[in-house]
Amino acid sequence: MTFDLLINGQKRRVDVPADQPLLWVLREQLGLKGPKFGCGVGACGACTVHMDGQAVRSCVTPVEAVGQASVITIEGLAANGGLHPVQQAWIEEDVAQCGYCQAGQIMAVVSLLAETPSPSDEEIDASLTNLCRCGTYTRIRTAIRRAAELMKQRVA
Ligand code: FES
Ligand code: FES
Repeated sequence: MTFDLLINGQKRRVDVPADQPLLWVLREQLGLKGPKFGCGVGACGACTVHMDGQAVRSCVTPVEAVGQASVITIEGLAANGGLHPVQQAWIEEDVAQCGYCQAGQIMAVVSLLAETPSPSDEEIDASLTNLCRCGTYTRIRTAIRRAAELMKQRVA
């Protein structure tokens, strides 16, 4: 079937089975390798992208479920030549180790901070269920606080 998708602000047409996971469409049809395959069953979050600003796990999202939603991947997060504050905080706090999970982590955090600009530890734990084999959780939490500061500075 043919699907007209809006990916990172651009219209993209793909011809794939309706039940094909969005992750495969992004990686194989559209060449966007930021979203990663980890578990394939919605458990690890490595494949996280946004649909209309909401973090979704693209490995368990069939392409037919996308409809007219705006899909943003890590490749489309930086805008107007500047990094997103969450990306900036990730660099400042040197979060990544192997890096495999980090695009998904960042997309989940952007979605969290859009809804909860200053999350408590409990809110972070409840919202951020992405897994990291390298155990970067402490630095992720530090970077979330730094990103929250940067976002407040940008709107001040
Ligand atoms: S690859 Fe999608 S949640 Fe693990
Ligand atoms: S940085 Fe290696 S899996 Fe998270």
